[in-house]
Amino acid sequence: MPTIHYILKDGSTREVEAKAGSSVMENAIRHNVRGIDAECGGCCSCATCHVYVDEAFFDRLPPPDDLESGLLEVVAAERRPTSRLSCQIAMSAALDGLTVRLPQTQI
Ligand code: FES
Repeated sequence: MPTIHYILKDGSTREVEAKAGSSVMENAIRHNVRGIDAECGGCCSCATCHVYVDEAFFDRLPPPDDLESGLLEVVAAERRPTSRLSCQIAMSAALDGLTVRLPQTQI
């Protein structure tokens, strides 16, 4: 199973084994990783699952669709070039070791 590394607000790291096809958001919620609110449950309408994707992985992700791009305009924390919504990142073997940093706030 591919691994996700979440870098929390305090700088510590949580490592989670992800089921292929599940989202980075779903794995955070399932394993009680703090810092992802996911108020809409993953239907891409809340922007409270914002993460900063490690640059080494960013180019491996498919680009955000129009819906995600629009929501990235309204995330609570600073938007950066590597900002993504974690409910839109589906895990696969190709993303094994994916590292995402959680922003200071989601609301
Ligand atoms: S969980 Fe709501 S946009 Fe990702």
